[in-house]
Amino acid sequence: MSFSLATVAYLGAAILFILSLGGLSNPETSRRGNLYGIIGMALAVLATILGPRVAAAGIPWIVGALLIGGSVGLYAAKTVKMTQMPELVALMHSLVGLAACLVGFASYVDTSVQYTGAEKTIHEVEIYIGILIGAVTFSGSLIAFGKLNGKIGGKPLLLPARHWLNLLGLLVVIWFGREFVNAPDVQSGMTPLIVMTVIALLFGIHMVMAIGGADMPVVVSMLNSYSGWAAAATGFMLSNDLLIVTGALVGSSGAILSYIMCNAMNRNFISVIAGGFGGGADKPAAASGAAAEPQGEVVPVSASETAELLRDAKSVIIVPGYGMAVAQAQHTVNDITKTLRDRGVNVRFGIHPVAGRMPGHMNVLLAEAKVPYDIVLEMDEINDDFPDTDVVMVIGANDIVNPAAQEDPTSPIAGMPVLEVWKGRTSIVMKRSMASGYAGVDNPLFYKDNNRMLFGDAKKMLDEVLAALKA
Ligand code: TAP
Repeated sequence: MSFSLATVAYLGAAILFILSLGGLSNPETSRRGNLYGIIGMALAVLATILGPRVAAAGIPWIVGALLIGGSVGLYAAKTVKMTQMPELVALMHSLVGLAACLVGFASYVDTSVQYTGAEKTIHEVEIYIGILIGAVTFSGSLIAFGKLNGKIGGKPLLLPARHWLNLLGLLVVIWFGREFVNAPDVQSGMTPLIVMTVIALLFGIHMVMAIGGADMPVVVSMLNSYSGWAAAATGFMLSNDLLIVTGALVGSSGAILSYIMCNAMNRNFISVIAGGFGGGADKPAAASGAAAEPQGEVVPVSASETAELLRDAKSVIIVPGYGMAVAQAQHTVNDITKTLRDRGVNVRFGIHPVAGRMPGHMNVLLAEAKVPYDIVLEMDEINDDFPDTDVVMVIGANDIVNPAAQEDPTSPIAGMPVLEVWKGRTSIVMKRSMASGYAGVDNPLFYKDNNRMLFGDAKKMLDEVLAALKA
């Protein structure tokens, strides 16, 4: 493939990636967005392999690597459960970071292209920054992986003088950067490069370890952004325009997502990065199973009583959370929604921006179950409607409906906007036990006079509710 044909293919791929991002911003167009992304990536890979910069002798190696990587990816995509998706994404971010580091070291020791003067300095700065971002992304994403699957505790690790430690790390990295660029040869430049890599790896670990449970969404989207910048840095090192463009797209969309997440959590971005928010839980509830302290009377309710309440209601709001994803209850939720709507009940859904374990988690599940989009509303759109609602059904949600965020200024989730389900005439919380949510915080909602608890696996309980509704 000639140079100009490869450039045209790259341009086409870049446009498809932009269209893909546009499509993914709305559930109705997301399938099309995905398709654009797949075509764009296929075009990009083909143009790279067949392009002028790959020698024919290298193609079998690339095809071999593609087969191995593709098989691992296919296996992971087929076997991963929806609830493990955020961990998988964190793991993939770490691979982007690792790739940036490896490409950085490889292009530093590669002497086949001789750079001189300003060009040499620019190339070395690209390598240094690329490895820096890559190493932070790699170690930070591995820690995020551990935190998301519950293997690492959710409590923020607050080292004494942590801000000074971070500042010291930054100054050392700048100083070694100078040493690296001024090094006369590859051998003497290697030491500052390795020292910086170790510091960046430690910084990535420290940065994510310092974030408490409920603030993980911000970190996940931030690492998403870092992985984009790491890819862009790799593009600079390899002089690959498409990688620069794609990396910048991922980097900037991840940064916008982090900003949206910060707004959703009512957090200041810099404060979250500096760490220390979200204390109070030793481990995410998923890992610890920690029980909330009793603070009053909990009123259990049965599936048939729930069905009766729903049958008598004129308006119902359903608030799904992580537990709905665990139970895979979305299809039964849709069946109940259809049954109630056929009876003339006004059923709507209230979606919190950080419900579940990844951005848009609930929307994806509801779309999969074919719940109509027009009754799925964002938190801001529905929060004022709870006082006029007969029954609010909370399905496997906890932190996102916790009134402590508004009522208890000492709570680790204080200030986080939540769905005000307790303002409904009756709220029913469906979960298996009194255990706390991801942030490990007690939930006073369970003890409110107008609240009922339907204990059990969400899918099993909803099946019973549906059967009772249809009886
Ligand atoms: P959580 O606060 O984690 O609560 C989920 C509840 O579901 C748990 O209390 C659990 O109680 C229940 N549950 C689990 N399995 C269940 C099942 N099979 N059937 C019925 N209930 C089940 O979830 P949420 O309210 O969706 O809030 C999300 C939390 O995750 C927030 O703290 C958020 O910051 C954090 N987070 C979000 C993201 C993104 S981007 N969305 C990323 C990382 C972290 P039982 O054990 O008693 O059943």
